[in-house]
Amino acid sequence: MAERERVLWGLLIALLIYPNDNFGGAFQPEFSSPISNLTIPLGRDATFTCLVEHLGGYRVGWVKADTKAIQAIHDHVITHNPRVSVSRSDHSTWNLHIKGVQLEDAGLYMCQINTDPMKSQTGLLSIEVPPDFDAEETSGDVMIGEGGQVKLTCRAKGVPEPKVTWKREDGKNIIIRDSPSIHDKKFKVMTVGEYRGEELRITKISRNDMGAYLCIATNGVPPAISKRITINVHFAPVIHVPNQLVGAPLGTDVALECFVEASPKSINYWVTEKGEMIISSAHHEVQAISKSTFQIRMILTIRNLQEQDFGSYTCAAKNSLGEVDFSIRLYKILGPARTQNVLVPPYYDQEEENEDVIFGSAELEKMENKAYSSDNTVQGHLGLPSSGASSSTPTMKINRRRPPTGIITSPSGNRSSNSALTQPFRCHSISLMLIIFITITCFRLL
Ligand SMILES: *[C@@H]1O[C@H](CO)[C@@H](O)[C@H](O)[C@H]1NC(C)=O
Ligand SMILES: *[C@@H]1O[C@H](CO)[C@@H](O)[C@H](O)[C@H]1NC(C)=O
Repeated sequence: MAERERVLWGLLIALLIYPNDNFGGAFQPEFSSPISNLTIPLGRDATFTCLVEHLGGYRVGWVKADTKAIQAIHDHVITHNPRVSVSRSDHSTWNLHIKGVQLEDAGLYMCQINTDPMKSQTGLLSIEVPPDFDAEETSGDVMIGEGGQVKLTCRAKGVPEPKVTWKREDGKNIIIRDSPSIHDKKFKVMTVGEYRGEELRITKISRNDMGAYLCIATNGVPPAISKRITINVHFAPVIHVPNQLVGAPLGTDVALECFVEASPKSINYWVTEKGEMIISSAHHEVQAISKSTFQIRMILTIRNLQEQDFGSYTCAAKNSLGEVDFSIRLYKILGPARTQNVLVPPYYDQEEENEDVIFGSAELEKMENKAYSSDNTVQGHLGLPSSGASSSTPTMKINRRRPPTGIITSPSGNRSSNSALTQPFRCHSISLMLIIFITITCFRLL
């Protein structure tokens, strides 16, 4: 009896003195919950937690599963990686810390207990990498002739794989014209606010495609990144003239105007009938107002009209790709000077609404017809356009006038006469229909 008591006491004392020792197989160490997998952005800190019950005298170790590299045993860090450390609270919570995770840290981490056989559980460390452009495979600014095709590329790396979208900096839509297939000769035109994909291909490029494009790469890991790529579309100057014939009485002020489109920017100037370039003076004011990167409104104001001012005035535009000019005829009308202001129609604002369809010269011609179909014969005293204008006084020496080279034909050409014909023709057909209608009605009544 006393013998048994002594043994029991001995056991009890041993348990009290060595509570952590490997005593009694009844309480084998166990994991009390699995290790959470971690997804950590590159450069941030990661912590795996291994929860253990009844550790007893056993030890907890951390091993990187793929390399078999021992990270730590109990409270001691074994690996030489200075970014690895361990911590614990009592014997149940064991932490492995990795500071500023790097790509090579990714993988399975194993928490082991040195029982026999060994017990272990693993947790996966995934590293997220914010997007980054591959400079070699990402486009820079491009310069292209009108009608050509460009392919812009933005190749982005990152984990998970980034998605690339394109948009225009000015918020306008992007026009994608799919190449015609063998069967279907037509271009499929698609207008999108945003285009998805690493490559943006624009075919049959038009001046309206000109501008800054942004490619934006995102993969859910901040920060998202973007790159700005500008497309410069080059074309020879083109001139639109809203009023080719301008009538005004003596003694009044009159404004003549031409709209120029050119890229690169053109040199713009006015020339008199005698071939002399007009510069700003007390009698003449020369203005050039930028409407967009490639559109300029040229205004020539002649003050206090004198007899010798009547005649033709030519606006001309010249860039590296060509030159064009256009003549406006200023003639005298009788009567007292009219002082009311006639508003100049905002040509470009109108155009902007259907800019999506302008490409190729055929389309442009159509557009012009539309512009010309407005009354282009007589304007009385033209009001002075609102200013805020930047005057430009070119200093170039002028050659004699040259036949126009752009798509503009001679001012007295087909276009104006065409449009002059359209209106009466419509009137005639409407009257004709009315007469037929009335005749039929009369017959019915009889
Ligand atoms: C961790 O990820 C592995 C592999 O994707 C999966 O099998 C395991 O169940 C995950 N563990 C937890 C705790 O979610
Ligand atoms: C109109 O254009 C046609 C062909 O483009 C040409 O043959 C004709 O002479 C032109 N008419 C005028 C009035 O310029």
